[in-house]
Amino acid sequence: NKKIQIAIDGPAAAGKSTVAKNVAKKLAYIYVDTGAMYRAITLKALQNKLQLEDEQALALLLTETSIELVQSSDGQRVLLDGEDVTDKIRSQEVTNHVSIVAKQPNIRKEMVVRQQAMAAEKGVVMDGRDIGTHVLPNAQVKIFLIASVEERARRRHEENIQKGFSSDLENIKMEIQARDEIDSKRETAPLIKAHDAIEIDTTSRSIAEVTELILQAAYRKL
Ligand code: C5P
Repeated sequence: NKKIQIAIDGPAAAGKSTVAKNVAKKLAYIYVDTGAMYRAITLKALQNKLQLEDEQALALLLTETSIELVQSSDGQRVLLDGEDVTDKIRSQEVTNHVSIVAKQPNIRKEMVVRQQAMAAEKGVVMDGRDIGTHVLPNAQVKIFLIASVEERARRRHEENIQKGFSSDLENIKMEIQARDEIDSKRETAPLIKAHDAIEIDTTSRSIAEVTELILQAAYRKL
């Protein structure tokens, strides 16, 4: 009954969290959404009206901030200092600012420590940008999910409409591109495929197909 680590990285809206949740459920592993952690500290910084470029203030804020990822029947809830912010961290405001916070070395250093602690000794599926390269460099399975920006924007747009949110396809496309640009070009742990990651292009694959491909990779290591 070996427990392994599965790292899933890739650009914004490539479908990482959906397939990561499916894989975790199937294997009865925990799922860790690291993007939610960067979103939570961004939300708190915005609420406290901090200058997001003030690296020292942000780093200090994080040291006194608790971020918990709680597995629940309806997926994962995110608790920021005990308050449920699962929906708030998905706001446009947070989305538009998170990459500015996430590129700061001190923020990343602390997040990586917390993420490694969450993964210790457990079967885990973790998704993010630097999981295979920095957080879990020894993960037995590393996946790099990609899809065309058009397809990623289209999926996010449909998701919004389904949820009854207002949505503009062109805006989403621009937001995704802007985030990918900052995430890929930052100095500390940029978004990049680990040399030993399996790349899966989800553009013309269903969620079920992608989930199955990752499970196959996992079963080969179990
Ligand atoms: O995964 P999600 O799109 O929610 O991530 C939000 C943002 O958090 C990313 O655009 C990126 O700036 C940051 N992030 C990161 N490293 C991770 C996960 C997310 O820098 N491991």
